[in-house]
Amino acid sequence: MVWTAALLVVVISYADSDDYCYNEPHCDPYAWGDMFPSCHPLLEEHHSPINLDQHMVRNSSLDSLHLEGFDAAQPAGHWTLQNDGHSVVLHMGSGMSVSGGGLPDVYHTVQLHFHWGAQATNGSEHTVDTRRYPMEMHIVNVKAVYPNLTAALDDPTGLAVLSFFIDVVYADNVHFGHITQKLSSVALKGQTTKIKPFPLISLLPKHNMSQYYRYYGSLTTPPCSQVVVWTLYEVPIHISWSQLAQFTSQIFSTEEDAEQVTPLQNNFRHVHETFSRVVSASKDAKLLSGTAARPLGSAATLMLIITVGRVSSAL
Ligand SMILES: *[C@@H]1O[C@H](CO)[C@@H](O)[C@H](O)[C@H]1NC(C)=O
Ligand SMILES: *[C@@H]1O[C@H](CO)[C@@H](O)[C@H](O)[C@H]1NC(C)=O
Ligand SMILES: *[C@@H]1O[C@H](CO)[C@@H](O)[C@H](O)[C@H]1NC(C)=O
Ligand SMILES: *[C@@H]1O[C@H](CO)[C@@H](O)[C@H](O)[C@H]1NC(C)=O
Repeated sequence: MVWTAALLVVVISYADSDDYCYNEPHCDPYAWGDMFPSCHPLLEEHHSPINLDQHMVRNSSLDSLHLEGFDAAQPAGHWTLQNDGHSVVLHMGSGMSVSGGGLPDVYHTVQLHFHWGAQATNGSEHTVDTRRYPMEMHIVNVKAVYPNLTAALDDPTGLAVLSFFIDVVYADNVHFGHITQKLSSVALKGQTTKIKPFPLISLLPKHNMSQYYRYYGSLTTPPCSQVVVWTLYEVPIHISWSQLAQFTSQIFSTEEDAEQVTPLQNNFRHVHETFSRVVSASKDAKLLSGTAARPLGSAATLMLIITVGRVSSAL
């Protein structure tokens, strides 16, 4: 009996140590490298997320990406929303792909997921002038030559992730409701629910899709593979305070039979050095997102002058 209990403890702690987490010292992002060696942020390695500052280089050949199937009125089949214990993931069927905008190939869209904070903290992964937005959404795309995401992890440009900051306003975002209305069905780790496909473009800042930043980095979750061509859109998606609260307070990292229920909060990786990497700004990027959360005034004007000066001297 005692022996069985001891074995059970060993089995449970083994299962625990096999998984990563965000908020406990033994498995949080600073400890990921112990379990997943490729998460060690060694010198000159290309990890994500990063901080976006004014040191960007304009690349006028970076135009809007081509988003195939994103505006289809009725994409076929159904999508699956899942709580995987680390995020809420929307798995999408086939039929969508991204290309152009300087991407080296065509990439099939496979899923999107979110990173968030808590009631009183912001939780985007990338930061702008060291400030976090409340949330960040990642649309994950796999190079078309590979059958699945795992197969793309050995190619330095195997994945293309489109990232959108999410900011908060008073009004609900009706399109975002396609997802938030289903969150209560995936409150616990392991739960899934079906979602009727909707045009993904309706979630995105569709008038500002030519304004973005580009750099080469990694997955922000284990195994932290350095295989991601990042596209960070400048203009955020807006949702309401109550839609944000559905993520920060109604999603849990624990399973149904857990003794203790733990909210899934602050599921973002810490910011990494850019080292010698270049962050490019698209042709239409305004390079002003660092001032977005601040009142416009002389400081913003001064920053614009500095920015324009840097960009032109970089050209
Ligand atoms: C600009 O972007 C294009 C497409 O990604 C790339 O081929 C080119 O090398 C970039 N130019 C500079 C100066 O970085
Ligand atoms: C968090 O986000 C809100 C809404 O965008 C913003 O007003 C606030 O300044 C942010 N806080 C931090 C610490 O960046
Ligand atoms: C992914 O593709 C590889 C290569 O074709 C294959 O060996 C592997 O089983 C696939 N993995 C999954 C999870 O489907
Ligand atoms: C978004 O795009 C519109 C149309 O091009 C432009 O007028 C507006 O300034 C852009 N918004 C931001 C925040 O850059």
